[in-house]
Amino acid sequence: MSIEGAGGRHIIITGASSGIGEATARALAQAGHRLVLAARRKELLDALVTDLNPSGKRVIGVVCDVTKPDDLAALVTRARAEFGAVQVLINNAGVDSGGQKWWLEGAEEVEKVMATNVTAVFHLTRLVLPEMLENRNGHVINIGSVAGRLAVSSLYSASKFAVRGMSLSLRRELLGTGVNVSLVAPGFIRTAMTAKGGKRPLPMPGPEVIANAILGLLEHSRPEVIVPSYYRLLCWLETLIPALGDALVQRSWKKD
Ligand SMILES: NC(=O)c1ccc[n+]([C@@H]2O[C@H](COP(=O)([O-])OP(=O)(O)OC[C@H]3O[C@@H](n4cnc5c(N)ncnc54)[C@H](OP(=O)(O)O)[C@@H]3O)[C@@H](O)[C@H]2O)c1
Repeated sequence: MSIEGAGGRHIIITGASSGIGEATARALAQAGHRLVLAARRKELLDALVTDLNPSGKRVIGVVCDVTKPDDLAALVTRARAEFGAVQVLINNAGVDSGGQKWWLEGAEEVEKVMATNVTAVFHLTRLVLPEMLENRNGHVINIGSVAGRLAVSSLYSASKFAVRGMSLSLRRELLGTGVNVSLVAPGFIRTAMTAKGGKRPLPMPGPEVIANAILGLLEHSRPEVIVPSYYRLLCWLETLIPALGDALVQRSWKKD
């Protein structure tokens, strides 16, 4: 599908205040799309909006905690009021689990990771999907993780396995409707999320590689992309020889 009209597409990006979301906002603004950027940190959103579009006519920021259903409803209402029907939803907001040993943390840790990484994806999709179906025009792009293919960190991996299951199933459920669903599964990417947690076992490219993959999906939808592509080999090995994954996690993947 090519970019529609001179105005580009109307795209909501969650978690746009830093990392992959910010890099994606920069790339999509450059490509001429109309963007609604959502996150909790207002000062970062404001600075990004000013940078990308000083007139505020093509890019707006909406303060939104994706774990709060009222915030999600207000986000979609504001987006529609500004730019009309939402054409692309990028569910990117996410959190890592605080440590490997989530069972030593309070119940809030489990709630936070699942609410941010999973429940919010369902709720925001639920809010835009009926309109996309009615218009036979839409694309939901979920940011999963290679940790949604390789079982490396039980709480975080569980959340990203869930996002993968949701994305691939929803895509099938919507075949022929004019609404696409894609999953982007990043490996280690250099962002605030990976700045914590010690040394990583593999190289870390910047978030622009994910932004480029998303640009590619807007041109040509695919069910799932793993970025960088060398992680495809790891995912394949995990399926064929799970014992190799055991060794990898034991030797180098553990964060604490
Ligand atoms: N970096 C990696 O290696 C990597 C690998 C695989 C997958 N991913 C996934 O990529 C996505 C982006 O992560 P990142 O690496 O770019 O990390 P990041 O720089 O920490 O960005 C996370 C973003 O999520 C937003 N966010 C977190 N909780 C939120 C909430 N309750 N409501 C609204 N926004 C919230 C943050 O904004 P506020 O704090 O301003 O709300 C921030 O903009 C996540 O889904 C992550 O799981 C990252």
